[in-house]
Amino acid sequence: MELLDGKATAQGIKDELKLAVDTRSAQNKKIPHLAAILVGNDGGSMTYVNAKVKACDLIGFNSSLIKYNNTVSEEELLAKVIALNNDDEIDGFIVQLPLPEHIDELKITMAIDPVKDVDGFHPENLGKMMLNLPAFLPATPAGILELMKRNKIETSGKDCVIIGRSNIVGMPLSIMLAKNTEIGNCTVTLTHSRTKNLKEKVAAADIIIAAIGSPGFVTEDMVKEGAVIIDVGTTRVADSSKKNGWALKGDVDFANVAHKCSYITPVPGGVGPMTIASLMINTLRSMEIQGK
Ligand code: GUN
Repeated sequence: MELLDGKATAQGIKDELKLAVDTRSAQNKKIPHLAAILVGNDGGSMTYVNAKVKACDLIGFNSSLIKYNNTVSEEELLAKVIALNNDDEIDGFIVQLPLPEHIDELKITMAIDPVKDVDGFHPENLGKMMLNLPAFLPATPAGILELMKRNKIETSGKDCVIIGRSNIVGMPLSIMLAKNTEIGNCTVTLTHSRTKNLKEKVAAADIIIAAIGSPGFVTEDMVKEGAVIIDVGTTRVADSSKKNGWALKGDVDFANVAHKCSYITPVPGGVGPMTIASLMINTLRSMEIQGK
């Protein structure tokens, strides 16, 4: 078994990006500027957004963190999105999801200018991705593909089972892995809460991607010897041995499953850092495509 070390792989990408920023800086060119909107005080969202801002600092990007409390109106949030669209200093921005129930996520997502949509969630970017046109790819699926590419995981002709059909991960990833691309050509099965015989389907997979947010869902009996496992889950679970009282748990029962795998991502330190690295790649690109 080999660990698919997302932290180390992401560090390699961040080093490359830092070099690109330093070069731009030396040429007196603009430094990329990412803005992040965070609504409320959900622990997971705060952790992610803080990690995104920290990554900007390390690479040398500028960043702005815009916080609202849970009671912010849809109108006020929309006005901020429009303002960021029109702010030439901001190259790309994200609105951290989920949003409170009284706000229509799709309405907010669709208000983002596609050239600044570094999360790749706007229908224009998702549609272009589907048709192989240049587009921002959603950060988590793109990070997973990059992790597999940089660690030389063979995907062509493999049976890949994805657990979870979210708009952010499972759904776009199923399309990306099925494409005729370097990290693609998989035969993808996208499973969900209505899937029949889920265990059998997962147990037959060469590549398993778990993205449902259910700690320890993938157990030893569901994994074929030699399978590759990508664990997208990051649920906070109470853990009195930790200083902050919680630990991040993946969707895979790592302790009992790892020995059967050829490769497996840890949680934390697997997919999470790759998501952030992808966002940074998209931010640099957003500035370039706007001709800045
Ligand atoms: N919530 C969970 N993952 C993500 C992400 O990649 N981007 C945003 N904006 N929200 C998220």
